[in-house]
Amino acid sequence: MFSLRTAVALTVLAFTGFVHAQLTGSTGPTTPLSSKTVTCSVLDYGGSVGSSDIGPAILEAFENCVLKNSGAVLYVPAGNYNMETWVTLTGGTKWAFRLDGLITRASTTSGNMFAIENAEDFEMYSSTSAGGIQGLGYQCRNAGPRLLRIIDSTNFSLHDLIFVDSPEFHITIDGGSSGELYNLAIRGADIGGSDGVDISGDNHWVHDVMVTNRDECVTVKSPASNFLIEQIWCNQSGGCALGSLPVDCDISNIQYVHVYTNGCNQAMMIKSNGGSGSVKNVLFDDFLVTGGSAYALDVNQYWSSMSTLDGDGVALSNITFKNWDGTVANGVSRPPVQFLCADEVPCTDMTLIDVYLWSDTGSAVYKCESAFGTGACLHSSVAATSYAATSTAYNKPISMTAVPTLAGDLTAGFGSTASIATPTIPSTYYPGLAQITPLMKNL
Ligand SMILES: *[C@@H]1O[C@H](CO)[C@@H](O)[C@H](O)[C@H]1NC(C)=O
Ligand SMILES: *[C@@H]1O[C@H](CO)[C@@H](O)[C@H](O)[C@H]1NC(C)=O
Ligand SMILES: *[C@@H]1O[C@H](CO)[C@@H](O)[C@H](O)[C@H]1NC(C)=O
Repeated sequence: MFSLRTAVALTVLAFTGFVHAQLTGSTGPTTPLSSKTVTCSVLDYGGSVGSSDIGPAILEAFENCVLKNSGAVLYVPAGNYNMETWVTLTGGTKWAFRLDGLITRASTTSGNMFAIENAEDFEMYSSTSAGGIQGLGYQCRNAGPRLLRIIDSTNFSLHDLIFVDSPEFHITIDGGSSGELYNLAIRGADIGGSDGVDISGDNHWVHDVMVTNRDECVTVKSPASNFLIEQIWCNQSGGCALGSLPVDCDISNIQYVHVYTNGCNQAMMIKSNGGSGSVKNVLFDDFLVTGGSAYALDVNQYWSSMSTLDGDGVALSNITFKNWDGTVANGVSRPPVQFLCADEVPCTDMTLIDVYLWSDTGSAVYKCESAFGTGACLHSSVAATSYAATSTAYNKPISMTAVPTLAGDLTAGFGSTASIATPTIPSTYYPGLAQITPLMKNL
C-alpha cells in the first residue's frame, strides 16, 4: 500500500528518469500516519501547555507509551512550552512525533535539545505546519544546545516544522538511511556556527527547505551516498556545501538540483584542507545565484578557515555543474567560478555545462589550480599533473538570463544579539516550481 507521499515520490522519480537516480530506494516512514493510532500526549504524562519544562513529560510519554505500543504518536498539542531538560529518544519503532506546539529553549546546557536515536519507521512533523523549536540563541550564542539531532535512524521523515535561532546548529542528520526532510523553515542569526541542515548517511532525500543564517544552508557531510537534495532556498545564508571534508572522506552519488541562493557566502562550496579519501559522482544542476552572493561555484581544497588535516588532499572526480545562472558581488576579488584543487591530488573529470555566472561589478575572473576537466579555466589533460593557481579574465556570458527572484527574499540576515521572530513555512522554494509535497496544514 502506498501513502500519498510515496506515490508522489515515485511519480517524481518516474518522470525525471536517470537524473534522479541518486536515490536507491524509497525514503520516509514505511507505515502511514493513519496506521499510527495510539496517542501518547504529553498532557497525560505530566505536561501542560505553558509548562516551564516540557522535557520530562516528553521523556515519560516516550518511555511509558511510545515504547510500549506499536504505532504510537507522541503528541505535543498546539501552545507554547519552555524546555530545560534535553531529551534523548532511543530505539522507537513504527512511531511518530507530532509537534504542533512551539517549544522554547530555557536552559543553556549544551548537547541537543532533541536527540532521536536508532528510530525506525519514524515521522516527526507538525500537523498544523506551525510547530517547532525556538532556540533564543541570542541569549547564549555558540554556548548552548543544538536543536535537533537524528542519529542512525532508518526510514524516517522530518517535515512541516520550524527551527528558529539555535545557539548552535539547527538540524543534524547523523548517518542512518532513507530519511526524507521537507517543508522546513530554518531561521538563524547572521553569524557562523548557525548551520541549517548538516546531513550524512545513505539514501536521504531533502527537498523544499529554506534557510536563513550565516553558515551551512543544506550541507553534506562524510560519509554520504545516494542523496537527492532539491528545491532549496538559501535566503541570506552561508550557502550549501560538501564538507568540511575529513580524513578518509567517503562521499559519492550526490545530486543537488534547483538551489536558489540569495545573498550567501557561496551557492555551492566544496571545502577542505588536507584530508584523504574521495568525493565522486556528483551533479549540481539548476542553480540560481543572486542578491550579492560572495562566491558562486567554489571548490577550495586549501580552505584557510579550517586547520590542515593529515593527508595529501581528498580526491575529487566526476563532478558536473550544469545550468547555473547568476552573479556574485565582485567577480574579480571573489571569482564566480573557482577550482583550487589539492596539488598532490588534482581534481579530475570536472565538467561545466551551461554555467553562466557573472559579476555585479561588470568584470570577472575564473581561478583554477590543479583542476582538470571541461569548461572555464579547467585544464584538459590525461596526465593531470598539478599547476599553480591562475586567474583568467573573461567576458560576460552571452546567454546569461536575468535570475528570477522569490517574493520575500531578505536583503540582509537577522542580527545575532536580538530575538528572531518565528517564520511561517513557505510553499515555494525555487522560482517557478511548486513544492513537491503540499504543507500538511493544507492536506
Ligand atoms: C526500510 O524500508 C524499506 C522499504 O520499505 C525496507 O525494505 C527496509 O527493510 C526498511 N528498513 C528497516 C531497517 O526496516
Ligand atoms: C559520474 O557521475 C554521474 C552522476 O552524476 C553518474 O551517473 C556516472 O555514472 C558517473 N560516471 C562514472 C564514470 O562513474
Ligand atoms: C526569507 O525572507 C522572507 C522575508 O523576511 C521571509 O518571508 C522568508 O520566510 C525568509 N526565509 C527564511 C528562510 O527565513
